[in-house]
Amino acid sequence: MNSNPNISPRLVLGLETSCDETAAAIVSEDKQILANVVLSQLDEHRPYGGVVPEIAARAHIDHMDRLILQALDEAGVGFQDLSAVAATSGPGLIGGVMIGMMTGKAIAAASDLPFMGINHLEGHALSVRLSDEVAFPYLLLLISGGHCQILVVRDVGDYERLGTTIDDAAGEAFDKTAKILGLGYPGGPAVEKAALKGDQTRFKLPRPLKGQPGCNFSFSGLKTAVRREAEKLGDNITQQDVYDLAASFQLALSDSLQDRLKHALSHYLDKYAPSEPSLVMAGGVAANTYLKNNLSTLCADHGVTLVAPPPSLCTDNGAMIAWAGVERMKIGDFDGLDIGARARWPLDPDAPPAIGAGKKA
Ligand code: KG4
Ligand code: ZN
Repeated sequence: MNSNPNISPRLVLGLETSCDETAAAIVSEDKQILANVVLSQLDEHRPYGGVVPEIAARAHIDHMDRLILQALDEAGVGFQDLSAVAATSGPGLIGGVMIGMMTGKAIAAASDLPFMGINHLEGHALSVRLSDEVAFPYLLLLISGGHCQILVVRDVGDYERLGTTIDDAAGEAFDKTAKILGLGYPGGPAVEKAALKGDQTRFKLPRPLKGQPGCNFSFSGLKTAVRREAEKLGDNITQQDVYDLAASFQLALSDSLQDRLKHALSHYLDKYAPSEPSLVMAGGVAANTYLKNNLSTLCADHGVTLVAPPPSLCTDNGAMIAWAGVERMKIGDFDGLDIGARARWPLDPDAPPAIGAGKKA
């Protein structure tokens, strides 16, 4: 197989199609992002207030080829200049995952390149090593629309999961809160913006699992409490009420994250005694500046450095998939073209399932 040993630095094409972003990127092994094209399907899904899997899959088919050609064009390279192809192979909406993965396999086969089926969560987990210098082992708070987990990233492909959500993911809680408050879709950025004008102390919302042992999360009670408060206000709800509820929700969610992270930090520091202790935020919700500011205080108290990739690498993108490909290419960890698409794919297969955890675990 030709992995183009003469090309230096080596380049990896990364494809991402696991949810509602169709994305293609080209990243070099020396951390240059030559192209990072992301097409969001927001307009297609907005009327439904959430992602419709069939619409997403069809949109990936419509746009994937063009986006790959655009990425090659922006990078000024051709297929012959690549050293490997990486595509998300799960977890995610299976129709979309199959489209990106089959496209990646076809390019790899036609260009005689090695292929890597990337775990989307590993894409998020390693993205910080593309933007920053972070050494293993680091503590990872992975907060996205589909997941909310705390893991120790010990190495490429080597994770210890400390906690996960037993119901909704953090991004899901943001999206549902936005829907209840009529703030539109996607909810995260809208809630963050509304909260800036609100009084975060006005509504007393629950902090699920606070004070209990362990590192698991629960957010469905919080979302229900927001709904109840909104229903109490009824038709008389004012713009300021919405701002105050958004701010109170964000504070409650931030408190929950911090409470769970305190346990995780103790475990990480005691068990691994890292020489450069770091807490990394990743996933779409890590784009939230308010949460980032609150966590930086927590980290300072524990002598730990907080690192978050820039927002463009936090929300779903192809560069994080290409970069996970670079990390795996460096250790020669390639896949055969018979690798399948996976709707579920835990980073730590040994982690016990969280009680009550459904598809998010
Ligand atoms: O990582 P991502 O792009 O897709 C998944 O893998 O799920 O995350 C999307 C999630 C959505 O729930 C979105 O509302 C949330 O990230 N999000 C935010 C912010 N930006 C995106 N949540 C809170 N604050 C933000 N600024
Ligand atoms: Zn994601």
